[in-house]
Amino acid sequence: MYRIGQEEINAVKEVIKTKDFFKVNNSCKAVWGFEEDMKNYFGVSYASFTTSGTGALVSALVALGIGPGDEVLVPAYTYIATAMAVLNVGAIPVVTEVDATLSIDPEDIERKITPATRCIIPVHMNGRPCNMEKIMAVAKKHNVLVLEDACQGVGSSFGGKYCGTFGNMGAFSFNFFKIITCGEGGGVITNNQKLYERSCIYHDASAIAFFGEQMKDFSEQGFCGTEYRGNELLAAVMRCQIKKLDGIVADLRRTKQAVLDKLDGRIALAPDNDSNGDTGNIIAFRFDTKQEAKAFSQKTGGMIPAECDRHVYTSWTPVMEKRGALHPLMDPFRMSANEKLRHNYTKDMCPASLEHLAKTVYCFVNPDWTEADIAAVADKLLSACN
Ligand SMILES: Cc1ncc(COP(=O)(O)O)c(C=O)c1O
Repeated sequence: MYRIGQEEINAVKEVIKTKDFFKVNNSCKAVWGFEEDMKNYFGVSYASFTTSGTGALVSALVALGIGPGDEVLVPAYTYIATAMAVLNVGAIPVVTEVDATLSIDPEDIERKITPATRCIIPVHMNGRPCNMEKIMAVAKKHNVLVLEDACQGVGSSFGGKYCGTFGNMGAFSFNFFKIITCGEGGGVITNNQKLYERSCIYHDASAIAFFGEQMKDFSEQGFCGTEYRGNELLAAVMRCQIKKLDGIVADLRRTKQAVLDKLDGRIALAPDNDSNGDTGNIIAFRFDTKQEAKAFSQKTGGMIPAECDRHVYTSWTPVMEKRGALHPLMDPFRMSANEKLRHNYTKDMCPASLEHLAKTVYCFVNPDWTEADIAAVADKLLSACN
């Protein structure tokens, strides 16, 4: 969380004053207002506010028609929620290498695609964009769907186009750790009406079934879904947060650049897919050996992504141990439709990723650092190399 204050307090107050928090009735129309805000910000035709990024990913996968019998490529470096979302819809996640940029490797995507592969989930980790040009080209060549997990990349872009807007659908998280936040929340975006309708029917199941208003223009037939509907109080916060997004990202980028200027190329950076498009919340340094990376992280307090357990496939315990659901008949790993799919997970199945993750060190950036803070950070980083 970066910037939250009086604007959010006032917006929540307005919703509370109505004493009616339900999206359908509330006079503040915060959820529908925030969905309009997302459409305008990202320049897309459809947007939904959900309870979480996980809910956004699951709703999108349902809308894309992913299910038992399908393989979905996910990167070796992402939060476990990406892989769990795939299992939630009955499909099998196939773990794919990340390259030195720490985003999904387009060459490994190509190697891993089989006739069972229905979808690729590129993940824009830490607001550093994936190479969407190459990924979209591979997806097109093999006729595979793309769902962008932009949960950590709200406001990031590739080649001047927002992450989340390249694939068939995009998903965002607004949880506490994200660039803009309401504590817990998510978003789904798409330009495809059918996909939008299906994801609404799924994520807002009871409202859709019992309060006909939203569905009156839908051409898709209703089906039983679940409840990932965002609420008015949190949407009111998000309406303020999205107004702050450009300012936060601009200040992150400016601060990051100020640190880089002081370093003057004396510490090697990890390669990236678009240095103008990342959200600037981290500086990723790259070392020749794991030992050098470790020493640098110890001296600077920087984070080695290989050690950030939850985000590396080796630590996705329920996935690695193939407990895809509580009920055995609901467990994708035991479904007959998935019997022939690849779920032979081993700790060493993505060696290149483990190598890249262990040779990279992150320095986190804050948009509100002063000149003195920037100088102190740069000094610390430089002295760690002497
Ligand atoms: C890459 C990625 N995907 C998905 C999620 C899930 O988002 P949420 O926590 O809002 O469910 C996260 C959350 O940290 C994430 O970092």
